[in-house]
Parts: sequence; C-alpha cells; structure tokens
Amino acid sequence: MAEVVRVGLGERAYDIVIGSGVRERAAELQGRLFPVTDSRVEELYGSWLKSCFGAAERFVFPAGEGSKTFLTVEEICRAAARARLDRKACFVAVGGGVTGDMTGFAAAIYMRGVDFIQIPTTLLAMVDSSVGGKTGVDLPEGKNLIGAFHQPKLVLIDPDFLNSLPEREIRCGLAEIIKTGVILDAELFAALEREPASLTGHLDPCRYTKIIRRCCELKAGVVEADEREAGLRAILNYGHTFGHAVEALSGFSISHGEGVAIGMTAAAELAVARGSLTRADAERQRRLLEAVGLPVKLPREYSVPAVLEAMTRDKKNAGGRIRVVLPEGIGRAGVVTPEVPELAAALEAIHA
Ligand SMILES: NC(=O)c1ccc[n+]([C@@H]2O[C@H](COP(=O)([O-])OP(=O)(O)OC[C@H]3O[C@@H](n4cnc5c(N)ncnc54)[C@H](O)[C@@H]3O)[C@@H](O)[C@H]2O)c1
Ligand SMILES: [Zn+2]
Repeated sequence: MAEVVRVGLGERAYDIVIGSGVRERAAELQGRLFPVTDSRVEELYGSWLKSCFGAAERFVFPAGEGSKTFLTVEEICRAAARARLDRKACFVAVGGGVTGDMTGFAAAIYMRGVDFIQIPTTLLAMVDSSVGGKTGVDLPEGKNLIGAFHQPKLVLIDPDFLNSLPEREIRCGLAEIIKTGVILDAELFAALEREPASLTGHLDPCRYTKIIRRCCELKAGVVEADEREAGLRAILNYGHTFGHAVEALSGFSISHGEGVAIGMTAAAELAVARGSLTRADAERQRRLLEAVGLPVKLPREYSVPAVLEAMTRDKKNAGGRIRVVLPEGIGRAGVVTPEVPELAAALEAIHA
C-alpha cells in the first residue's frame, strides 16, 4: 500500500507517493518523458530504466557532486533538443540529490520551463532534496550558488532503492532525518531513539516508509508556509552553517551528512549556552547521532578560527552577521545571529 503526501501549493500542488514498489508507477506516466540519471544508478538500475521508459532517450552523467555544473545542465538541455523535446516534455530525475537538483534546474530553464518528476534513489533525496522545488548547480566559487525554484509535478519514493545504497550514504540521510526531528517533531525524534541500531545495517522497509513519510509531511508543511525561504524555511538549515564550513574545510572528505551532524552538535552547544536547550536534550541529540554512526566532534585538524572563517563565507548570511538555527527544546527551532565569540565557544566545546 502506497502512502500519499500532498504538497499544497495551489496551482503548483503535487503528490509525493511513498511505498515499496511505487517505482513501477513510472511506467504508467503519460507524455514525452526524458529520464536523467547518473552513471552509478544507470549501472544498478539500467535494465529497470529501460523496461520502464522503453525506447525514450535517457541522459546519463558521471556520478558525483563534481557533475553538478552548468556544463552538465547544458548537455542535458542539448540532449533534450536533439531528441526534439518541446514544451510539453517532462524530465524525470532518477537518482540522488545531485540528479534531482540538476534535472530540476534543467527543467526550469529548458524552453523557459518544462515539467519534471522526481524519483529519488538516495535516503537524503527521499527525505529532503526531492521535495520543495529547490533546484540548481554548483560554481567553483561555492555550492548551490546558481538555481531556481521549480516544483516537481510528482515525487515517487520507493524505499526499495535503499537496499543498494552504501552505509555512508544511509548515514547522510539519517543526519537530515534527525535534523528534521530536532527542529520540527519531538515524536519523530523519540521514534528514532527507539532502536537506532536498526536504522543502519539491514534496513526495515516498513520502518523506513513511515520515517520517510513523516519527513516529507514535515518538509511539505514548511514549504507550504514559506516556499521561497522568506523566513520559516530557513530552519531546515539547522546544523548546516557550521556543517558546510567543516565540509568545505575538509575538501569534502567529510560528507554532507557528517558535516551536518558535527554542525548540529555545535549548534546544540550554542543553544545550551543561550538557555534555549537543556543539557539533557543536547545529550539526547548527541547520543542519537552517535548511535547511527555520525560524528559529533570537530576533528582536531580543523582549528576553530578556520571554521569561523569558512562560516563567514556562507551564502546564507544576512548583512554580514552569521545566522544560525538553534533548537528551542526538541521539536522546535528558531534563527539567531550570535556574536563571533559565542560561535567560537560552541566550536571549542566540541573540539576533539
Ligand atoms: N534541493 C534541496 O532542497 C536539497 C536538499 C539537500 C541536499 N541537496 C543536494 O543534494 C545533493 C546530495 O544528494 P545525495 O547525497 O543524494 O548525492 P548523490 O546524488 O551524489 O548520490 C550519492 C551517491 O549515491 C549513488 N546512488 C544513488 N542512488 C543509489 C542507490 N539506490 N544505490 C546505490 N548508490 C546510489 C549516486 O550515484 C552517488 O554516487 C547535494 O548536491 C546537495 O546540495 C539539495
Ligand atoms: Zn543538508
């Protein structure tokens, strides 16, 4: 049985359909479909893609964040043009967040905008990036600096794709799931605390379907309230201001999820110092992150001033001040603009 979450955005409203086997619904989609995927997903699921989309031309790019560029978007659009796709075409992103962000962006600009559908295959894409309409590419000067808001027409989430996903990628998704619990839903957080060990290793598809559904509902609620990040949507960046800085400093050897986990731990320290989070709740977060194998310490080799310097380069800063999302207990969050010494103290507190 598939579950459906509706993203209520008026004329841009769409369904997120979640359940084991829902990928087969892609075969029933009508119209000129243009599937886009990466080399790894093609390797694993090429024969399924072929059976599902038939003779439709599909675009395959080399897997990895390094492909998330203007150049690949140009190639996607040129392939679409060669296939004589017109404005009624529908791009279909089959893959992780890189595929989704880039295919969505190509769909936003091809012929001034065509439809697109998301079929996420990583946990991160299932619980976060495939929902909400943020699309884009990276520049050498920074990640996600180019983009557009372009909502998909449909999101098909099939947790069976997770069976082939490496453990480290599962943990990346778990960082975003734990983030969602801390900022929006104490019950989700408590559910994760029960048997955290079973969230990794052999995955329980039923449990994951429930978790993914809840994350999609919560994200849909935030996007409905603030589609273009004028305010509330910024709380989804919890852990990300510190996290992006650590990720960048490591030359991306620290993954996004690992960076976010370290970032959430630092943010929780700051929240405890400011009195918006109890030490006991900060400890609950730390224990859960650790239990699923995510890091909670700033590695020795990164100095606090270096992290602070990298944070000031983050594009989400308003007028020079560093904005940080802080939990207000478990299940609620707000945005603050702390002084640099407070940020430094929070980082010192988690330094290995
Ligand atoms: N748009 C948004 O709101 C939003 C939110 C969060 C993150 N993002 C973006 O998402 C990207 C990260 O997404 P990601 O972590 O999914 O990265 P990704 O798309 O690069 O996927 C990670 C790796 O997993 C492989 N893979 C995908 N599905 C697989 C499967 N089922 N089995 C085995 N391997 C599989 C991919 O080939 C890739 O090598 C970043 O670019 C980030 O900026 C966007
Ligand atoms: Zn993230």
